[in-house]
Amino acid sequence: MTGSAKKIPSFLEHHETLSSTNDRAWEIIAKEGKMADRGVVVADFQEKGRGRAGRKWFAEKSGSLLVSVIYMPPGSGEIQLLPLATGLGAIKAIFSCAGTEARLKWPNDIVVEGKKMGGILVETRSSGGEVTGAVIGIGLNLRGNAADFPEEIRASATTLEMSSGKACERDQVLAALFEQLNYYLDLCFSSPGELAGELSGLWAHRPGDTMKVSFRGQTIEGVFGGVNASGELVLATSSGETRLIQGEILENGDDA
Ligand code: BTN
Repeated sequence: MTGSAKKIPSFLEHHETLSSTNDRAWEIIAKEGKMADRGVVVADFQEKGRGRAGRKWFAEKSGSLLVSVIYMPPGSGEIQLLPLATGLGAIKAIFSCAGTEARLKWPNDIVVEGKKMGGILVETRSSGGEVTGAVIGIGLNLRGNAADFPEEIRASATTLEMSSGKACERDQVLAALFEQLNYYLDLCFSSPGELAGELSGLWAHRPGDTMKVSFRGQTIEGVFGGVNASGELVLATSSGETRLIQGEILENGDDA
């Protein structure tokens, strides 16, 4: 499958305040259908920003990049790679703007030196077993210092400004992100093996790292064995090799 002739952003909506850029993107899809493909929604502030697993997404006003990309996938086969491709695109964009070497915490947290700089929330809708549309939500902490974060995430979060010493303009990071997403989202469908290869050196985990992963209310302990071409986390556990397509790597001391 070759890439779409349509490029991101096919259109761009900017809002000062939204409930959530993902919600606005779904509204657009409901109205425009496939015409909305590769459209982009950006907000300066979200009143109800969503994170993965039903969590809230905190972002200081105008200190973050809050964006949703509407993506009509060319097939359903490799849809589970979209979050990983987005993470890879975000890492490359961050490096090109600020020289910061971010990594991915599986499945798709953007981290620098163990602290979270950004997150990705991909939502999909299906009909008759086929994925009919996806909204790729990306939140990146660009500006500010530890004191700007709420107490509960202060020790575990960072910003691009904190890691690089540079206050990058949101629009510069956005432009770099679009360029990368145009390449990597298409790669999910045209050459998923290549995508997995590019990702292999960019995980925050190293072969041999022990980890605990929360999966469907259980905690699975094992040794990191990489992420395969399907985007699955491969763990060596006491009962053999386990592959997970979903889950959350827990911090030391946490349990599911
Ligand atoms: C996570 O790490 O939990 C994912 C966070 C995703 C946040 C972004 S901000 C833009 C988009 N709109 C939302 O409501 N959420 C995503």
